[in-house]
Amino acid sequence: MMRNNDNPITLDLFADETTTTPGQVERIGEQSLVLRGFALPWLDRLLPALEAVLQAAPFRQMVTPGGFTMSVALSSCGALGWTTDRSGYRYTAHDPQTGRPWPDMPAVFRELAQAAARQAQFEHFEPDSCLINRYVPGARMSLHQDKNERQLTAPIVSMSLGLPAMFQFGGFERSDKSQRIPLFHGDIVVWGGVDRLRYHGVLPLKAGEHPRLGAQRINLTFRTAG
Ligand code: SIN
Ligand code: FE2
Repeated sequence: MMRNNDNPITLDLFADETTTTPGQVERIGEQSLVLRGFALPWLDRLLPALEAVLQAAPFRQMVTPGGFTMSVALSSCGALGWTTDRSGYRYTAHDPQTGRPWPDMPAVFRELAQAAARQAQFEHFEPDSCLINRYVPGARMSLHQDKNERQLTAPIVSMSLGLPAMFQFGGFERSDKSQRIPLFHGDIVVWGGVDRLRYHGVLPLKAGEHPRLGAQRINLTFRTAG
């Protein structure tokens, strides 16, 4: 991918529009796929639903057990929401900031996540949690495994919106070499089965302006947590 550092904003936009081929499917593991542009036809329904969820449960920056404030801001919807604070990582039924239950998962979220999971042969995905991550330029997510979910038989379905990001998809040890996969607006990654516990992360977001979402990337990650 060509990037001109003198003008990253224009070129990130350019990349967003020209390097994904909607409908293309890339296998990145035995039971892991990137579905290019899979969410695009759903966005007119999905974005207003996302806005309503974020009204009820606004983004906030959480603190890790180690005392670091995450650069990514989080929210959640569904029966369970993922949270972190000084006492650890966990799923909760209530938003710790408002004391209210997390907003319901909109039907369009669940339908899209299930449709994506089916593409990767996960037929009966019933997500009860959608973690919503907001990256501004510079925000990143270091390599980690998703392992706070009670049962690991369900896949992870992860949707990208807004600015492009470089996703890292690694092995089963933090030190394993990871693949670098650029993710664009509308792309969905599904990983599960033998790949369920692979380390993954996101490199620092590059500056840019997305025509629909502005200077941010929003990632929706669906899980069966309970
Ligand atoms: C996550 O692992 O929770 C987020 C992955 C991403 O932002 O693509
Ligand atoms: Fe994750």
